[in-house]
Amino acid sequence: MKNYDLKKLTLEEKCALLTGANGWQTDGANGKVKTVWVSDGPSGLRMHNPEKQEETFTATAMPTCHVLANTWNLKLAYEYGATIADECIYRGADILLAPGVNIKRTPLCGRNFEYFSEDPYVSGKFAVEYVKGLQDKGIGTSVKHYCANNSEYDRCHQSSEVDERALHEVYLKPFEMAMEAKPWTVMCSYNPVNGVYASENKKLLDTVLRGQLGFDGLIMSDWGAVHNPVRAVEATLDLCMPHYDGYVEKLTAAVKSGKLTEKQIDERVEKVLKLVEKNEKAKPTRKVESTEEERHARAVKMAEEGIVLLKNEGGILPLKGVCGDCGKQSENCADGCGEKKKYFVYGSISECPYLSGGGSGRVQTAFKQTALHTLIAEKTGAEVDHRSDNQWDRDWRGMYHIAYDADVTIVPIGHGDGVEYEGDDRMSIRLTEAQEDRILKIAAHSHKTVVLVYAGSAVDMSRWIDAVDAVVFVGFAGEGVNEALSALLCGEENFSGKLTETFPLTLEDTYKGGDTKDGETDLYDDGIFVGYRYYDRAGKQVLYPFGYGLSYAKFEYSNLKIEKKGDTDFEISYDITNVSDVAGKEVSQVYVKDVSAMVHRPEKELKAFSKDEILPHETKTVRVALDYSSFAYYSTAFDKWYVENGWFEIYVGGSSRELPLKGKLKIELPEDTQYSTK
Ligand code: BGC
Repeated sequence: MKNYDLKKLTLEEKCALLTGANGWQTDGANGKVKTVWVSDGPSGLRMHNPEKQEETFTATAMPTCHVLANTWNLKLAYEYGATIADECIYRGADILLAPGVNIKRTPLCGRNFEYFSEDPYVSGKFAVEYVKGLQDKGIGTSVKHYCANNSEYDRCHQSSEVDERALHEVYLKPFEMAMEAKPWTVMCSYNPVNGVYASENKKLLDTVLRGQLGFDGLIMSDWGAVHNPVRAVEATLDLCMPHYDGYVEKLTAAVKSGKLTEKQIDERVEKVLKLVEKNEKAKPTRKVESTEEERHARAVKMAEEGIVLLKNEGGILPLKGVCGDCGKQSENCADGCGEKKKYFVYGSISECPYLSGGGSGRVQTAFKQTALHTLIAEKTGAEVDHRSDNQWDRDWRGMYHIAYDADVTIVPIGHGDGVEYEGDDRMSIRLTEAQEDRILKIAAHSHKTVVLVYAGSAVDMSRWIDAVDAVVFVGFAGEGVNEALSALLCGEENFSGKLTETFPLTLEDTYKGGDTKDGETDLYDDGIFVGYRYYDRAGKQVLYPFGYGLSYAKFEYSNLKIEKKGDTDFEISYDITNVSDVAGKEVSQVYVKDVSAMVHRPEKELKAFSKDEILPHETKTVRVALDYSSFAYYSTAFDKWYVENGWFEIYVGGSSRELPLKGKLKIELPEDTQYSTK
């Protein structure tokens, strides 16, 4: 401890340091200790105005984290963090309460839009860059919600009952990976884990997080997640947020009665003081290095890379200005007559796009949108008509006529923060019946139909997917959405986003939850089979698999090579050729399958990925590395990661269900590291 001397603090002052001074600030111990301001996250700065705490300052509404993850671009994740850091510096926030690295175990979870993926490796990779982006600029982070907080329904009471292996391989893994970036803080979740609240769970906080995962920062609680101050301190929770009335009294009484030792308090206080010192040290290094316009431009760029093209039958997209201007024959005439195209954008979302889901992750932006239909008209020079939702009720037949007369009808549809929000789960993964009816009716009268879907997680499209020509999953793409989307739809930019979660055919196809899910316990009897690991094991068809997304370019894979660099280190290289006339970025994925093991293992697991820009007709060689963690499973027999010798298969391709390249390698670790398998 450099600047602060514990001995100069009274017991009351020390205990006061262990809970917030208010909603967003740490306590100052009667002016003896500097305070730290914390603020939400994750998709921008949601900072409460210190003067009027019910108001939040405006900030750049970045694409939410599920869209960021759909970029598969780790450089963007870093830039995303750095962009928000600039806003923190500008407003005076010291720590951003982000990123959320919880696994999307079910598409129903109301907070999926805030999280990265159903896959722990993707979540961990994005977490590392996100944290570095902020912390390299001197702003702290809080990796949350630790842990197994995978649904919002009754989140403050329902216990997540998870076996050790699933806990480590799926739910703790992103936290474990995030440690590489040395986050200043971790936030514990609301829910009990295996019957004990996360805030009181000494095994999770101390043995696992500090011990096994090597975390040496501060653990704070989620807002109101502490039930018992004494138990929280016993469990080594450092900071209870927000201010808890009576915290000081309860802790001092516990010390006086001998329930807690002063040393236990001191250990927690030291973590708070260390954080304060880290923060003070960082302050002079902080510099705003971007303008508001630049931050907005980054939000646009990230949305461009995170919006996913799911279907594009007959190459209906990109939209052209006049018939034949792309050099191809139009679908409306025989020879590319050069006539202006007519488009119909039908839906209010064109003017008021959904930018985010609801709750603490929702950022208040000051940016004024230009409507999507206006931007499409500007970019293509085509004739673009637009009608808002309420015109359906007044004149649905009129809508059919406009759709009939247009070359393409574009239907932006979905739901916003009224359906997907913190504190509850969705009841269904379908659009409303009325929305589905509308798509079907419009499609029946349109020459060609493009549907743009706004949602924070997977959507069941089974009722209408075959009736439409193109589908774009916009997600909650932040304030840059209309600029990004129009650039993609009109071919100024190429789609390069891919899904980081599986889109099942229907909710019935997803893992349904344990049989004791009654509001009190949620039995994770899906074990390690989460996301694509579940669909693979169950042999289920899905609507769009994990890792899937289309581009205007076309890529072919060849020439897989596996080179051994060490006992468990391998370089995997392969060629990707852009066999089209347009430049594009391809997200290639490398999956590993354990051919035979003493424990059950998933069909395959993502262990590396790369996103590469490839020019028309260019071939690029991509190289990625595999290491110990690519082959290991979490052994509950040894309480550690363990690699079992034997053959492993390597699959490479453009999505989890399209893996044209296959190879194999053998792990042959020294016999004394191995246990008998015969
Ligand atoms: C959320 C956290 C958030 C905190 C402060 C809680 O309800 O779960 O993610 O950081 O509130 O707003």
